[in-house]
Amino acid sequence: MKDGLQLQARFLTIEGGEGAGKSTVLHALRDALLKDGCEVVCTREPGGTPLAERMRALLLDAGEERVHDHSELLLMFAARVQHVHELILPALARGAWVISDRFTDSSYAYQGAARGMDMTFIAELERRAVGIAPGLTLLLDIDVAHARERTRGRDLLNGASPDRIERERDEFFERVRAGFLARAAEHPQRMRVVDASADQTTVAANALRLLADYRRGLA
Ligand code: TYD
Repeated sequence: MKDGLQLQARFLTIEGGEGAGKSTVLHALRDALLKDGCEVVCTREPGGTPLAERMRALLLDAGEERVHDHSELLLMFAARVQHVHELILPALARGAWVISDRFTDSSYAYQGAARGMDMTFIAELERRAVGIAPGLTLLLDIDVAHARERTRGRDLLNGASPDRIERERDEFFERVRAGFLARAAEHPQRMRVVDASADQTTVAANALRLLADYRRGLA
């Protein structure tokens, strides 16, 4: 129990800004655990259950109507509550590992640090409605301009257009980055910062080393 939250040893999260290479790391962690015969559930936020995925679409679609900060925050948390109760906790209860692409740290970085919403309110939502925290979080840290280059390249390849949050300016993503780094400084035990500016193989190897250290600590 920490800050009123139940730490879940087999729950891992990957955090970072857009273009940090979270999916490559997620796949590397999944493959390492599978190789050791573990059951692994990979998931993402916002999303992870049918209802939470519908909320994700509401959150990311760039519609006409302005999305207010509180609507954004509360929808992120509504999706997370579904995710925790319908997918994460049942998987952990049967002994599986769960790896999530983003979790509550993203709300502190995007809604808290970048949008300027009250951190104590976010902490209260986390404590009352979410109740759990991952045992290990890998924060993939990368310079905003460098990350932009990567996402631009990816979008050109896929023909994708930026979603509502991706349309924010660089200043917004600078605040997201600073927000994540501040979280990591506050939670040095749980959160490990990985330099995501290196090539994908190096980043994945560093992430795997951190997972191995973490598992040794559990044994
Ligand atoms: P996604 O396409 O998954 O972004 P990425 O590929 O960068 O992970 O979209 C998720 C978006 O939602 C991303 O811009 C971050 C944002 N987000 C928040 O603002 N708050 C949150 O609590 C979460 C989980 C995500």
